[in-house]
Amino acid sequence: MTVSGRKKLIFGNWKMHFSVKQSVAFATKLADKEVPDSVEVAVAPNTLAIAPVSDVLSVSKIATISQNAYYKDEGAFTGEVSMPMLRGVAKYVLVGHSERRHVFHESNELVRHKVAAAVRSSIKPILCVGETLVEREHFHTKQVVHDQLTSGLCDLTAEEVARMVIAYEPVWAIGTGKYAHPDDAVKVAAHIRSVIASLYGHEPANKVRILYGGSVSSENATSYISSSGIDGLLVGGASLSLAKFWPIVAAAQKVQTTKSNEGRA
Ligand code: PGA
Repeated sequence: MTVSGRKKLIFGNWKMHFSVKQSVAFATKLADKEVPDSVEVAVAPNTLAIAPVSDVLSVSKIATISQNAYYKDEGAFTGEVSMPMLRGVAKYVLVGHSERRHVFHESNELVRHKVAAAVRSSIKPILCVGETLVEREHFHTKQVVHDQLTSGLCDLTAEEVARMVIAYEPVWAIGTGKYAHPDDAVKVAAHIRSVIASLYGHEPANKVRILYGGSVSSENATSYISSSGIDGLLVGGASLSLAKFWPIVAAAQKVQTTKSNEGRA
C-alpha cells in the first residue's frame, strides 16, 4: 500500500484482440499467477469474452473490466450492452477511452451519461482523459483534461467521485511507442486532483485513484508508479502477453515494498 493506503492498480486493456478461446486460455494462465497483496490487477477482454474470462478469473484475485457499455439500462439499442448487464461479470468499465472518443466519436456528454450509468449500476467507471498531439502542441493539455473531467463527473456526488478511477492517457502516446515523460504525467495527475478538489473538495481529490496509460512497458512502468500521485497503469499492447504484463505487476509490487520499507525506516 502507498502512504495514503492505496494499492497500485495494474490494469490491462486487451482491446479488440483475442478470440473467446484465446481470451480464456490467457485468463487461465493469469489465474495461475499469485497477485501481490499490495497490487490490484484487472483485465479488459472483448465483450464476448468478458463472461467466460470472469468465470476463469473468479478463482483468482484478478478482476474483470468491460471495455465499454451503453448508458441506457435496456431497450432498442442494437449492438449495445448495458451497465446492469455487466453486474456480476465486470467490476470496472472503461469510459471515454480515446479510441471511443476519436474512432467512435463519443462526446463529453455521452461519456458523462456512461459514467453516471456505471455508478448507478455499481460498476466502477474508469474515466479516461487526455489530450491529442495538436492540443499538446498548443499547450491545451490542462484545459482539455479540465473540460473532460468537469463534464464527465458532473452527475456524481463527492462520495461517488472519491471511489472513481481516472486514467490519464495522452492520445498521442497510445499504441505509438511514444510515452509521456513521467514528470509530465505526474504534473497532469496533480492537475486532475486539483480540478477535483476545486469541484468536490480535498477528500475526493485525495481518494480518487489516477492511472497513467500510453505505451507502458516493463521498462518504463516504475518511473510512473514510483510517484505517490500515480496509483497505477492502464496497459494496452504490453498486456497481451504474460511475459510483458507480469513484469509490470512485479514492478508495482517492488515499488510498494520499497515504499513500505522506507515508511518503517
Ligand atoms: P498502449 O494502450 O499501452 O498500447 O499504448 C494503452 C491504452 O489504450 O489503454
